[in-house]
Amino acid sequence: MQTRRTAQLLLIAAAGLTLGACSNFPSRQTQVWVWDDMKKQDKYKPQMSSAFFSDGRASRGPVEGALAQEHYRADEPYFTGVAADGNYVARNPEPLTKEVLLRGQNKFNVYCSPCHDRTGSGRGIVPAKATWIPGNMHDDRVVNFVDGEIFHVITMGRRSMPGYRFQIQEKDRWAIVAYVRALQRAGHGSMADVPVELQAKVR
Ligand code: HEC
Repeated sequence: MQTRRTAQLLLIAAAGLTLGACSNFPSRQTQVWVWDDMKKQDKYKPQMSSAFFSDGRASRGPVEGALAQEHYRADEPYFTGVAADGNYVARNPEPLTKEVLLRGQNKFNVYCSPCHDRTGSGRGIVPAKATWIPGNMHDDRVVNFVDGEIFHVITMGRRSMPGYRFQIQEKDRWAIVAYVRALQRAGHGSMADVPVELQAKVR
């Protein structure tokens, strides 16, 4: 009885091994498909054609007007710097706190200073090595931008400057705008901005 049982088990094991090897055994011979193991199945892959749809494509485009969740921006002005009336947002929506300014400084030094240098003058390391002229943020023209226009330049780029919307989050872009304002203020300072007790030390 015991030997018969062992023989039966061995037989099953051998059968399993033999059949199991059919589809996964590397061989130059054409495979014997005993079980498909879902390796062969009817399905459409991207870009395949199909006679089923009138346009002959297997893939369907998104429904008109559909928007991916991550592309949905409830507060458009915050994300573009452009208000509903088509004008640039006048004032930075982020609060002007020390924390925001320090964050703006950090991001400015990382992302903007290679071209614009740390003061915003436009004489960074990149233009020193390449023929490329970044704008000077202390030009009256740029100083007179409203906050939203600077945000928009960072977001979309302008002329030869690339946009940084993929590298820098909206919140940080507004922080950079706040810091650019601080730089401009520093660049346009006058004796009146120096505390009275320190004015004598300024040459
Ligand atoms: C790869 C180099 C490069 C980097 C990095 C860069 N800029 Fe610029 N930027 C330029 C160039 C070049 C111009 C001049 C564009 C032109 O007028 O053709 C410019 C112009 C500007 C202007 C003036 C736009 C105008 O209308 O004159 C502002 C403001 C500005 N950049 C802000 C920023 C800020 C803020 C950052 C950091 C987020 C930044 N830039 C990063 C190259 C750069």
